[in-house]
Amino acid sequence: MSPKLRVGVMISGRGSNMASILAATEAPDCPFEVVLVASNNPDAAGLAFADSKGIAIWAHDHRGMKRAEFDRLIDAALRGANVEMVALAGYMRLLSSEFVDGWKGRILNIHPSLLPKYKGLDTHARAIEAGDSEAGCSVHVVTPELDDGPVVAQARVPILPGDTPETLAERVLKEEHRLYPAALAKCAADVIRSRKSA
Ligand code: GRF
Repeated sequence: MSPKLRVGVMISGRGSNMASILAATEAPDCPFEVVLVASNNPDAAGLAFADSKGIAIWAHDHRGMKRAEFDRLIDAALRGANVEMVALAGYMRLLSSEFVDGWKGRILNIHPSLLPKYKGLDTHARAIEAGDSEAGCSVHVVTPELDDGPVVAQARVPILPGDTPETLAERVLKEEHRLYPAALAKCAADVIRSRKSA
């Protein structure tokens, strides 16, 4: 069996998407493994969860540091763990263009909207406010522009009468937990295949 792709997951908080990615690695045929969970927030709840699952964790408080300076630190941690692909999972900080360029095409993100709609924050409130009939989530390749890279997978949910940003977020989050591991597996399998044919 070919070696699994080594994935580093970057989080800032709760880490429920990271947990769904970890759960996917329990399937024997999962084409990736998680070798590091890294955070800009040492108090991120997801760190303790990853640690409890025996995954290596890294954290450093970004406050008081220049963006590029902090990104060099997290980059060194990822490279030190021989990470081959990065999955942003609720990583709530813009990345420097140096960081993104250094991982060109190898950073994925999950965003809670049907991109290109509602880049940035408060996606669910904005979708309800606009009177949309559906919402969803997108996995995309990260480029230096916020929430802007090519979309690799999307899932849709209805917006129901009486929805609040919270009830909609809950419905979308369920889909995020299904979509992200599946999209990551597809991208990892593609990388492994391209290596074989190289
Ligand atoms: C998710 O809704 C994700 O789409 C967004 O931030 C949230 C993170 O949640 N980028 P979690 O930390 O994965 O639980």
